[in-house]
Amino acid sequence: MRLLGTGAFVRAARSARLTVLRPALSAPSVTLTLGTSRQQSSHAVASNPVRSTFPQQSNLDDAEKSDIDEPRAAGGTSDRLSDFERRLLNQENNSVWRDAGLAGAKISGKTYMLDATSNLSPSILPLVGRRLYNIPNHPLCITRKLIESVFSRWNFVNHTAENPVVTTQKNFDSLGFPADHPGRSRTDTYYVNSDHVLRTHTSAHQVAAFEHMQKTNSRKYTICADVYRRDSIDKSHFPVFHQMEGAWCWTVGDKNPRKRFEMFHKRKDMIKNSLKEIPGLGGRLVRVEDAVHHHKSNPVQLEHDEEVTSLLSEHLKRHLEALVDRVFTEAAAAGVGGENAADKPIQIRWVEAYFPFTSPSFELEVFWQGEWMELLGCGIVSQPILNKSGLHKAVGWAWGLGVERLAMMLFGIPDIRLFWSEDERFLSQFQEGKITKYVPFSKFPACYKDVAFWIPSSPSAASPLEARDVGVAAAAGGDATKASPTETQPAAFHENDIMEIVRDIGGTLIEDVRLVDEFVHPKTGRKSLCYRINYRSLERTLTNEEVNDLHRQVTEKLTSDLHVELR
Ligand code: PHE
Repeated sequence: MRLLGTGAFVRAARSARLTVLRPALSAPSVTLTLGTSRQQSSHAVASNPVRSTFPQQSNLDDAEKSDIDEPRAAGGTSDRLSDFERRLLNQENNSVWRDAGLAGAKISGKTYMLDATSNLSPSILPLVGRRLYNIPNHPLCITRKLIESVFSRWNFVNHTAENPVVTTQKNFDSLGFPADHPGRSRTDTYYVNSDHVLRTHTSAHQVAAFEHMQKTNSRKYTICADVYRRDSIDKSHFPVFHQMEGAWCWTVGDKNPRKRFEMFHKRKDMIKNSLKEIPGLGGRLVRVEDAVHHHKSNPVQLEHDEEVTSLLSEHLKRHLEALVDRVFTEAAAAGVGGENAADKPIQIRWVEAYFPFTSPSFELEVFWQGEWMELLGCGIVSQPILNKSGLHKAVGWAWGLGVERLAMMLFGIPDIRLFWSEDERFLSQFQEGKITKYVPFSKFPACYKDVAFWIPSSPSAASPLEARDVGVAAAAGGDATKASPTETQPAAFHENDIMEIVRDIGGTLIEDVRLVDEFVHPKTGRKSLCYRINYRSLERTLTNEEVNDLHRQVTEKLTSDLHVELR
C-alpha cells in the first residue's frame, strides 16, 4: 500500500532506528508462508480444493453496519440548488457536465461545481460507485470479510462510506496535515474543486467514525472504502484502490477528580488483560523485527503516559500480526505460493513511520518476492483528534491497509487491474467465504512502445529517476521529490501527469509505464526522458493497429497538454 507517511521523516527515523529481534509469539507448529502467483500453472479455470476456516459471513450483522457518509457538498438542500446544479442532477451519475461556461460533476448522486483546481480525469469517474468490496463473490469483498472476521470477536462496528468525495478539511486538515504536506499536491490527489477531493485514504472518515463511537458508546470500528491517488502505472498501482482502517479506544472517566488516578490504573489493567486475549500466531514461524518506538523522531504524545503508550503499541502490533498471520495461513492452505508453501517461513518486521495523525507511528513490512514491502501503517491516535470527536477520556490505536495488496497475496492475483475485470473467467473463480488460488485464464502478449521527449525547462522539474534513487517514491500519499505541494497549477513537468494521460487513453490496457532513459543535453542543458509503455490486455490479444493508434494518441496528447517536444 502507498502510505501517507512522509518519506523524509520515515527515512530519518529508519536510519536512527534501534531494532530488536523478537522470537515467534506462540509455540509454532506450522509455518507461515508467502503465496506467490509465479508458481501457478497457466491452464484451466480454478478447480482447486478449497479450505476455509473463516466464517462464511462476518459475525457482525447488518444492523451494525453503517455508512459514514459526507453531507452534500454544494447547495445544502435541493431548494437551494442553482438552476445549473438542478440540471446537473439529471445528468448521468459519476460524470462531468458542462453548460454555458459552467462545469460540474455529479458524483454518487451529489452535485459539485468544478473550478480552476479541478483535475478529475475522464478515466477516473467511471470507476466510482462500483463498490467492489460489497460484491459477495468478489475477491476484495472476500478479503474485507476475512479481515472483519479476525476482529469480529471484539465486536468492531464495520462501516463503509459510499461517496468518495470529501472536503479537504476531512481528508487533510482534521488529521493535522501540515499545509505543505506533499499529499495535498494536485499532482498526487484528485481535486473535485478547491474544497473537495476524491478521498486519498479512509482516515478522511476518522473523525466521523470517532464521533459515531462517542454517540453510540462503541469503542472499535473498521471502515472499508475506495480511495483515489494519482500515481505511477504498474502491476500493483491503480488510481483507485481500497483501504480498510481499524481503530480501538479505551475510555475510563469519572467526574470525581480524586478518582482519576484510580481510573488511570484501571485502564492500564484493561489494556494488559486485553493483550492476553489476542491469539498467537497460529503456530507459523514468523521472524519479527521490531522498531523501538521511544524515539525522538517518533515520540510518545505530550498528553500520554509512556507505559500506556507502550501497552497500546504492543496491543496494536499483536492484533495486526494476528491478522497478517491469518491471511498467510489462508493463502498457504489454498495452495498459493506452491505445494509446500506452508513450510516456508515468512518474515515480517515493524519499522518506525510518520503520519500526521498518529504518534508513535509504525509500518508493518513483509518480505515478499525478494523484497521488503509495506503492508500497512498504524499508530497511537493523535489525542486532539479524539478530543475533537468528544472522546476526551479515551486513548486508542488505529491502522490502515490496502485491501488489494492483501488480496493479491491471499489469492495469488498477479495484476491489480484484474480486480476491475468484469470477465467471467476471472469473476467465476471466486466464491464468498472461500480462499481459492487464482488460475490465469490465459496470458496475452504484451507490446511495448517507447516515447522520448524533451521536457520544458523549469527549475523544479525534478528527475523521476533521482526520486526513485532516494527511495521515497513509495510514499504515494505524497512524494516529497515530485512537486511543490502548495502549488495548484504546477508549471513543471510531473511524472504523474504522464501517467494520467496514458491512463485516460489506454485505460486498463496499460500494464505499466516505466522511465527507461534520461539525459541532459551537454550544450543546451535541456532534459530528455524516455518512457516505455507496456500495452497488454488481460482479456484478449491486442492488434498492432490498435496499439499503434493508442500510442499515437498518447504522444499527441503529451505534446499538446504537457508541451513536451518529441525526439
Ligand atoms: N491513512 C494512512 C495511509 O493511507 C494509513 C494509516 C491509517 C496510518 C491509520 C495510521 C493510522 O497511508
